[in-house]
Parts: sequence; structure tokens; C-alpha cells
Amino acid sequence: MPDPILEIDHLSHEFAGGNGIHDINFQVYAGEFILLAGPNGSGKTTLIRHLNALEHPSSGGIRLYGRPVTANLMLTRKTIGMVFQDADTQIVGDTVAEEVAFGLENLNTPRAQIREKVDQTLSRINLSHLKDRNPATLSGGEKRRLAIAGILVMDPEIIVLDEPFANLDYPSSRHLVETICRLNRDGQTIIVATHDVEEVITLASRLLILDDQGHLVRDGFPAELLGCLDRFGIREPCFSRMGYTAPPWQT
Ligand SMILES: Nc1ncnc2c1ncn2[C@@H]1O[C@H](COP(=O)(O)OP(=O)(O)O)[C@@H](O)[C@H]1O
Ligand SMILES: [Mg+2]
Repeated sequence: MPDPILEIDHLSHEFAGGNGIHDINFQVYAGEFILLAGPNGSGKTTLIRHLNALEHPSSGGIRLYGRPVTANLMLTRKTIGMVFQDADTQIVGDTVAEEVAFGLENLNTPRAQIREKVDQTLSRINLSHLKDRNPATLSGGEKRRLAIAGILVMDPEIIVLDEPFANLDYPSSRHLVETICRLNRDGQTIIVATHDVEEVITLASRLLILDDQGHLVRDGFPAELLGCLDRFGIREPCFSRMGYTAPPWQT
């Protein structure tokens, strides 16, 4: 087995009143598509903020290629690209292409290289046709994909998406799922935190379940964990409740 990219090692973050996450242990390997599922308040956002050393653990820690994520914050945040839930409200560029170029410009990347990289990224994320549009005029789904492009352009080893399907209509969700799956098929390691697993559960390679107390209670193959979702406050997908093993569009 190859070495893991990330090792989450006895990680705890105690908030007042017993909230937080408690003694979380798992590893992330290259090429995985991990679904981190749990009801609201189970600690998904807290956990993934720790991956970028945006929080201080109460105990335990996280290693990236064997070194603490706190050892080199620049490297950690470049290697683990985070798309936060409100990322699409923080758009600063006047055009889609400018928005995607923003991170590279901050690194003083040469102009020609920026243009090439931005074009490549927009194409991977299916936004090339909108490159000159003002981001404010994009649909919710397009804004979400733009936020992902802004991270993807920096070549992260892992992309972490927090509730990427929140407030998207069905076609936008499907489009986003297809984009995420294509990135993963191309080798991108992906972690998606979500309270609603319906859209992606059969596409992920691994499912981690946090219970409402912030404990990691399951870590396994999505198809084998369908039956225990309800118990942990996660809605079982329709196809599974109807007795199917995969949604109709995948069979
Ligand atoms: N800054 C904070 N101070 C106190 N409690 C917090 C703070 N941030 C989150 N929590 C609590 O920790 C728990 C986990 O929150 P969060 O990580 O946002 O869960 P999720 O993303 O799964 O909805 C919740 O009970 C929440 O109220
Ligand atoms: Mg959250």
C-alpha cells in the first residue's frame, strides 16, 4: 500500500457543551473520492477546517506527507485546496477568467502561463464558454463551478468541497456531480462534506460517517453502508429505500 497523503491522528476539537469532533482517525490516499457525511452540527466543517490548519486541535493532529499540517501553512494550503460553502459569495474578479487567474497572479506567475492555465482549467470544469462573463451574472451552479476552478487552477493534491450541492437545483447538482467525478477519474483526490448523500453516494470510493456527537462511526464502502445512514441522521437515498443498489441514471 502506498503512503497516505494525509493522516488524521486522534484529532479532537472540543467546543463548550461537548460539541466538536472527538478522536477522529483516518488516512487519505491518492485518487480517493471520499464522502464525509453527517447531519448538521456533526463536525464536518470543523474537521475539514483542520485539514488546512485553520483551527487548533484540542488534541491529536494531522500529517501531510508525514509532516504536521502546521509545519508549512503555505504548502499545506496549496496542497489541500478548500472550496468553502460560501466561496461563491466571495468572488472578486470582473470576469470569470480573471477570477480564476486571481490565485496565480498572487504568486507572480508569468502572464502567458496564467492564460494557458486558466484556459485549461475552465475547460476541465466546463466554463470555457463563460470566460468573459461577469461572475455576478452566473447561475448558482455556474458560480459553484467557478469557485472550484479558482482552487483547481492552483493544482492541489486534494480538493475538499464543503456542502457543494447546497441550494443547487437538480440539473446544477447533476452537472456538478459529473464535473467532480470527471476530475476524480482524471486522478484528482477529492473529499466532499455533505449532509445529503443522495447525489454522490454511489460514485464515491469511500464513505466516512460522523454522528451527531462528532464521532467518526463508519469508514467503508458506500454501497455497504446504505442501510445504516438513517440511524446516524443521514437521509437514505431514494433508490436505496426503493430496494435498488444504484440510482436509475447509473444502471
Ligand atoms: N466556533 C464555534 N464555537 C462553538 N461551537 C462551535 C463553533 N463552530 C462549530 N461549533 C459547534 O460544533 C459542532 C460542529 O459544527 P460544524 O463543524 O459546523 O458541523 P457541520 O459542518 O457538520 O454542520 C456544532 O455543534 C456547532 O454548533
Ligand atoms: Mg458544515
